[in-house]
Amino acid sequence: MAVRSHIFRVWRQTAHVFGFQEYDGPVLEPLELYTRKSGDEIEAQLFSFTDKGGREVSLRPEMTPTVCRLVGAKANALKRPIKWFSIAEFYRYERMQKGRGRCFFQFNADIFGEAGPEAEVELIALLVQCLRGFGLTAEDFYIRLSDRNLWLHYLEALGFDEAQARSVLGVIDKYEKIGDAAFTSFTEAHGAMDETRKAKILALLAVKGIDALEAVVAQAGSEKLTARLADWRALLGGLEAMGVGAFVSVDLGVVRGLSYYTGFVFEAFDRKGDLRALAGGGRYNDLVAKYGGPDLPAVGFAIGDMTFQLLLEARGLLPKIMQAPDAYAVIGGPAERTLALGHVNELRQAALRVDYPLKQTAFGKQFKAAGESGAKLALIYGESEVARGVVKIRDLGDGKETEVPAHQLVLAVRELLGR
Ligand code: HAM
Repeated sequence: MAVRSHIFRVWRQTAHVFGFQEYDGPVLEPLELYTRKSGDEIEAQLFSFTDKGGREVSLRPEMTPTVCRLVGAKANALKRPIKWFSIAEFYRYERMQKGRGRCFFQFNADIFGEAGPEAEVELIALLVQCLRGFGLTAEDFYIRLSDRNLWLHYLEALGFDEAQARSVLGVIDKYEKIGDAAFTSFTEAHGAMDETRKAKILALLAVKGIDALEAVVAQAGSEKLTARLADWRALLGGLEAMGVGAFVSVDLGVVRGLSYYTGFVFEAFDRKGDLRALAGGGRYNDLVAKYGGPDLPAVGFAIGDMTFQLLLEARGLLPKIMQAPDAYAVIGGPAERTLALGHVNELRQAALRVDYPLKQTAFGKQFKAAGESGAKLALIYGESEVARGVVKIRDLGDGKETEVPAHQLVLAVRELLGR
């Protein structure tokens, strides 16, 4: 729980720094919210049931439908761009494995009301900072950036109709995991694909880097594709300007398993490739309207807590003690306790974290407890100190001791902590 709180604290602070407002929604939603867009893997993973009133309901497997419903209902009253975030628990009936559970938390961040790639720049910068905030670097993780819009234009140029194109996106989503077998679902629905077109699909799928992308697009000779490259350049330029270019790789092998995405999509992975995705997101311009709201462009992402925690552990980036006190009071005896408790209270009123032994024990035991608590300072209330109206402060790091007049304690503790 301490680890989780630590992670949430950093995510929440980061979202505030980026100017996002926090929201939450209900854990239980009408089943319909998740079944309107058919074909997603997520639908097979719903924890759904009929409630006592005969309504079909489901625990939420993700936040995006809920937030679309909320924003859609209030869209006209909200100042745009709408920048919202949440930290919440989700439920999916998945096969449990490393980094995958049936309940887990996500940090969700979304921007509504901005159609241009500026929204993607802002969100990818936020995603990067949510990971860097723990000490992770460009050597630890990277973001694969792709584009469903570009894929759809490309497939159209190759002569696929819309249903076929959607089926191809399903193939691409699975190709990395299962290779050629991914084409089976297409063959079953639409018949075998000719080798030329298959080769062209594999060519775009293999694209890594903007130069390779430009080359493949030039060959396809489609106006829509060429126009889309301008958005790509604007996005990559914005990411460079934001100082996060080094974290982002152009990689058309990603399309995302959720079918509501309509444009740029991205996923974050650890560089070593030991873990499943850390985060995923993209643009979904049609979804707010689908849930009864106005036409409102939207883009967002979610980071999961499970893979993220595994990565921090593997890199040794979790602090050993999450909530160490600033100071620990070591109290000589009942006579000294009155003064000590008064000081504990005073320091706490000043928002300093202070702990002390509830029961009187030997000095040695109390020092041991002070050390184990992770406190930076021990405040020592011996008989002689109390008699002289001073408190002895020991730095538990270097063992240095100072004595301060009792009435200057708060100031002295602050100074020693550097605050
Ligand atoms: P997603 O890719 O399904 O996207 O999930 C995002 C992240 O949540 C994953 O990368 C993973 O870290 C974590 N996650 C998902 N399922 C599980 C699980 N069963 N156990 C542990 N962690 C899991 C979405 O959910 C989209 N709604 C994200 C989004 C927000 N798109 C736009 N806005």
